[in-house]
Amino acid sequence: MKVTINENCIGCEACVGAAPEVFEMNDEGTAQVIAANADNLADFEGDIEDAVAECPVDAIEAE
Ligand code: F3S
Repeated sequence: MKVTINENCIGCEACVGAAPEVFEMNDEGTAQVIAANADNLADFEGDIEDAVAECPVDAIEAE
């Protein structure tokens, strides 16, 4: 599974709430995938789907 945050991110942090083991905020105030869990994203698929659904600007791309 691959998850990326695109340039639409406005830093609303809904993804961190929905999937706190997958997303964190970076110094620019946008989201990033937590590196320590980047190889285990399939374990958090349900939370990632929730984050995709909750992001107001469709900034999360999961495949
Ligand atoms: Fe950004 Fe969407 Fe998360 S705006 S901080 S990717 S919920």
